[in-house]
Amino acid sequence: MKTLIIFDHPRRDSFCGAVLDHFAAGLREAGHQPEIADLRAEGFDPRLAPEDEPDWGNSRKVYSPAVLVEQERIARNEALVFLFPVWWWSVPATTKGWIDRVWNNGWAYGDRKLAQHKALFLGVAASDADQYAKRGYDVAMQTQLVTGIAKYCGIEESRLNFLHGALGSEADRLALLNRAQDLGRSF
Ligand SMILES: Cc1cc2nc3c(=O)[nH]c(=O)nc-3n(C[C@H](O)[C@H](O)[C@H](O)COP(=O)(O)O)c2cc1C
Repeated sequence: MKTLIIFDHPRRDSFCGAVLDHFAAGLREAGHQPEIADLRAEGFDPRLAPEDEPDWGNSRKVYSPAVLVEQERIARNEALVFLFPVWWWSVPATTKGWIDRVWNNGWAYGDRKLAQHKALFLGVAASDADQYAKRGYDVAMQTQLVTGIAKYCGIEESRLNFLHGALGSEADRLALLNRAQDLGRSF
């Protein structure tokens, strides 16, 4: 399956970058074809300017060239994976802005929805699963990302996975990288 991985981290040589390498390797082992969108390295501007504001009276509005490029990148893939560090119990701002601008009215929601049937949100997190559950951050993120965004835009099969303990020991991190590769293999 052609799979677009939307990667959002200030550094490609970060731990999240290593997670990306392992996840993509797992995908390839399973016969999938990953394409990587490294939003920050590419200089994607997450701010929604007037040219990309939805026109509620015209669902065929032509959006900015930068958005059309991203929509083309989505269209040539069959599945989407968001790979990000959890920042303040959410996705980082560049991912949020990418969704704001690119998943636009008349293309991702409204009278037309996304053609992709599968999405994964893969959040790399410092805190453990118990800390997420204690305050309901896991459920909140699930509701926001899976129900509020992916399902709203027509993606039926979507899920949120966390890699907890990203600031742990080397052994912990190695286990997370292996888990990322497994997730790629079983995607
Ligand atoms: C601005 C910021 C906010 C963060 N907020 C959270 C958070 O809400 N929950 C959490 O589990 N970790 C949080 N973290 C920790 C990051 O998830 C962690 O640093 C990252 O996953 C480690 O990967 P990296 O070394 O590749 O950056 C935060 C980190 C930063 C820099």
